[in-house]
Formats: sequence, structure tokens, C-alpha cells
Amino acid sequence: TVLVLDFGSQYTHLITRRLRELNVYSEMLPCTQNVADLSWKPVGVILSGGPYSVYEDGAPHVDSEVFELGVPVLGICYGLQEIAWNQGKDVAAGDKREYGHAYLDVQRHPSSSPHVDKLFRGLEDDLEVWMSHGDKLSKLPPSFVTIATTSNAPFAGIAHLEKPWYGIQFHPEVTHTPRGTRLLKNFAVDICNAKRNWTMGKFVDQEVARIRTLVGEKGQVIGAVSGGVDSTVAAKLMQEAIGDRFHAVLVDNGVLRLNEAQIVKQTMTQHLGINLTVVDASELFLGRLKGVTDDPEKKRKIIGNTFIEVFQEKAKEIAAAAAGSPQEGDIEWLLQGTLYPDVIESISFKGPSATIKTHHNVGGLLEGMHLKLIEPLRELFKDEVRILGTKLGIPEDLVWRHPFPGPGIAIRILGEVTPQQVRIAREADYIFIEEIKKAGLYRKISQAFAALLPVKAVGVMGDNRVHDQVIALRAVETTDFMTADWYPFDGEFLKRVSRRIVNEVNGVCRVVYDITSKPPGTIEME
Ligand code: XMP
Repeated sequence: TVLVLDFGSQYTHLITRRLRELNVYSEMLPCTQNVADLSWKPVGVILSGGPYSVYEDGAPHVDSEVFELGVPVLGICYGLQEIAWNQGKDVAAGDKREYGHAYLDVQRHPSSSPHVDKLFRGLEDDLEVWMSHGDKLSKLPPSFVTIATTSNAPFAGIAHLEKPWYGIQFHPEVTHTPRGTRLLKNFAVDICNAKRNWTMGKFVDQEVARIRTLVGEKGQVIGAVSGGVDSTVAAKLMQEAIGDRFHAVLVDNGVLRLNEAQIVKQTMTQHLGINLTVVDASELFLGRLKGVTDDPEKKRKIIGNTFIEVFQEKAKEIAAAAAGSPQEGDIEWLLQGTLYPDVIESISFKGPSATIKTHHNVGGLLEGMHLKLIEPLRELFKDEVRILGTKLGIPEDLVWRHPFPGPGIAIRILGEVTPQQVRIAREADYIFIEEIKKAGLYRKISQAFAALLPVKAVGVMGDNRVHDQVIALRAVETTDFMTADWYPFDGEFLKRVSRRIVNEVNGVCRVVYDITSKPPGTIEME
């Protein structure tokens, strides 16, 4: 195991992720971790970046025992400065802050000890790297040599002459450092001799074991599922760990996709063996949405609050039933399928003691129900969740599902949400997605749906003039959902979809395709 000590950088988890991509197992712990308290010995230690200056009062410092372990150490950014601080305290505020791309000149030392050149072995002499720091070394710590420079940083890379200790000012873990993974491989595999045996199967075993320890022999967990990949994978993992002591709840809010509640129920219970309760609250939701015409945020609030209410009520019932059952015990835990990108988004950069804000609906649930949060996917990225889902036997269809917003098609029905509008939007969406799948485009597209516009247009159907509604199709390609491009369908495809929607969906006489990218458009229409 490679130990990553976290000094609070927004990139620390990426170090762990890159190592895992190399099949090297790594564990991340707070920078203040006492080495003596570890029950295992790392094969190497990485000190992450962080928002502090090492010379500041109150700046966090690594347990100096790290340098006595006799294992390789790599300091990244703050970590480099931390090594220098530990070895001689010569770190000063930089006169220029350096953020963004930089070009690195690698310096080789063929006549020094062979380990000195190992970090950059196999890499070019000039490398594009990503910098993000304000401080710099004032001079080399004793017994170190420079192994890389940039025009701004004379000590962009340093190595100890006798010991396998390295420091780099740039961030190898981000994709903006194209050769960063190779550098981390050099460190972990060649320098630390870490075994490359970590797989998703191991993740499952470890996570299942962790959940069992956390929850105990009788503990019960409740969690909402949506039919989306994250909540399904999280639920399946819980089921593997504690079986029926995990209680999944699907709230049918009346604005799910066509037949969604039944499909989710079938997959979850029959295929995945998850202990699921479906609550049909569609009338309650639709009743509360009635009359809300031109305030999308209000729709979101109504749906969010009603969800909390319905979920809590159901949770109480389930808890009461569970308390009287053979596996008795109160429900203490709430499952949340939080992914790593949500975690970074909500970490406040107060450093190692960073408090993680709870996400969306969960805040309200936790307060109202005195539950503790359990987040088995919090270290994973979306693509890893998909790999994990496949590993857990979740059907391909579900694993590759496009994201679907909590407020459902309510935010895809512009204007008032009525049962009639829901029917139209659902049917049109179903046809669009069906055609996308038939054309083999579903995985190429990141998200697609049909929206119902709040206008009527004139058309002619048969011999009659009609005055009916307009469907807008939306399909985007994106990697991060922060920016997105509309998908360039060919004309034949659009023609087919348009024809089917107008013919098959009662109430629609026109179909348009949304060709707005994000920004300035958002992906959803409301
Ligand atoms: P926008 O429309 O902001 O969407 O470009 C970006 C991504 O977020 C999803 N989205 C939501 N998801 N509740 C959710 O759970 C919401 O209120 C919400 N609004 C947007 C959207 O589907 C897209 O994937």
C-alpha cells in the first residue's frame, strides 16, 4: 500500500485514483496521521499539496517518523515544501505565484546514486506540467540535488542524494500534466516496488468489510434509490454487505420516466435481490405542483421538500417494523451514493479538518431523522462506479444510464406540470431514447431527453388543421456536465424520431431539436 497523506489539496484524491489506475493500492489519510498508530507499513509515502504555507503558524506538519520508515517519500507541491521544511526550513513566499501550465526542464545526474534519476526515467527532458503554488524553496535542503526546473521555479524537482526522497513543485496527478501518470508509476512501481494487484474486486471486498464493521452485526441502513447508476450501485453494495438490513426506498414522485417505477422495482428486487419498498406518492407531488407555471426553482423546492417528507414517513414505518423483527435494532444509517466529484465540490478548503457539506436533500434528512451518513462510493469517479456496477452484476442497461435529475421531467415540462403534460413528455421521451438506442448512439451521448414546450403551434394532420404542442429534443455530449455540446445527429435520424413522435404521441404536432451548447444554455431546460 502506498500511503497518501492529505494536506488539503483539492487534488489529493486524484493521486489515489491515478495509483489505482495503475492497479496499485493506496490509502489516503490526514496529514497529521501518526506513523506509530498505523497497523500496516506503507511501501511508500506521498505528501500531497495543500492550501497552506509551511512557515505559517498553525500550518500542518507531517509526523517526522515518516522519514524514519526507510521507505521512499514523494512530496507534491506543499509536500515538497514540507520535505524542505523538515530538512532545513528554507522555504519562502514566492515573488511570483505560479498557476497553470509550465514547462519543465529535467536534469539528470548519471554519476549520482541511481535512484536520483528514477523519478523521471523514461520521460522526455522537457515536460508540460501543471503548477499551482505561491511558495518556493529558497535553497536546496542539505544532501538534495535539483532534478527539474522551470523558468519560474529553480527547484521544481529535487531528490535526496542518498535516500529515495523526492519533491516536485507541480501536480502529476492532474490530466493537465500529460506524463503525470508515468511519473507516479515510476515512483510507486519502480521506486517503491508496490505490487500492481489492486482491482475493483478488491475494492468490493474492502468496502463490504468496512460497511460491516461500521454498521455492526445488527445495524440497519436506509437509503433512497432512483433507478440511476449511483444509487443502484451503492444499494447493491449495501445488500452484499448486510443483506436485508439495508432498506431501499423508491419514491415515485409522478415525474419519473415512462414505466420507470415498475422497471426499477423489477430490477432491484428480482435481479439484484435488494430489499426495496416503493412508495407511490405521485398524486401528492402532482397535487403540489399544480398551478406552478413559471418558476422552475419553485418546482425544485416543492419536489425536494415533498421528497423529504415522504421519505421520512416511510422510513419511520420501516424503522418501526424493523425494530420488531428478528434482526431488531434501530435504523441509524442513511445511505447516500455520493461520488468523488460531489465530495470535491463540497469540501471547504479549510484544510485537513475540512468539513464535508452534506449534499442536496440529505442535509434535511439527517437533521430530521438523527441518522449518520454512509457513503460507500465517495472515493470513486463515475467511470469507476460503472466498472463496479458491472462487477456487482447490475445489468448493462442500467450501468450505462444517462443521468436523470431529481426533479425528473417536471423540469422538462416548461410551464405547468399536469398529468396530461406528464403523459406527453414521457411518451415523447420514450420514443426518442428508444431510437437513440436502436441507432447505437446511447453511449456516445451523455444525456438525452425530450422536453415539452409551453406553446402551441399549427400543423396539418390528415385533412385537418391542428393546434397542438411542441416537443424539443435535447442531446448533449460532455465529460463533466459543466460544459456540453449538442449532439450532431444525422438528418435521417431526426426525421425518424420526429415522424414517430408526431404520429404516436397524442397532442404533439411539431418537433424541434435544441442546438444550444452549454454555456450559454444549461443541459436541462429549466
Ligand atoms: P444543467 O441543467 O445545470 O444540468 O446544465 C447539469 C446536470 O445536472 C442535472 N440536474 C439536476 N440533477 N437535481 C438533480 O438531481 C436538479 O435539480 C438538477 N438540475 C440539473 C442535469 O440533468 C444534468 O445532468
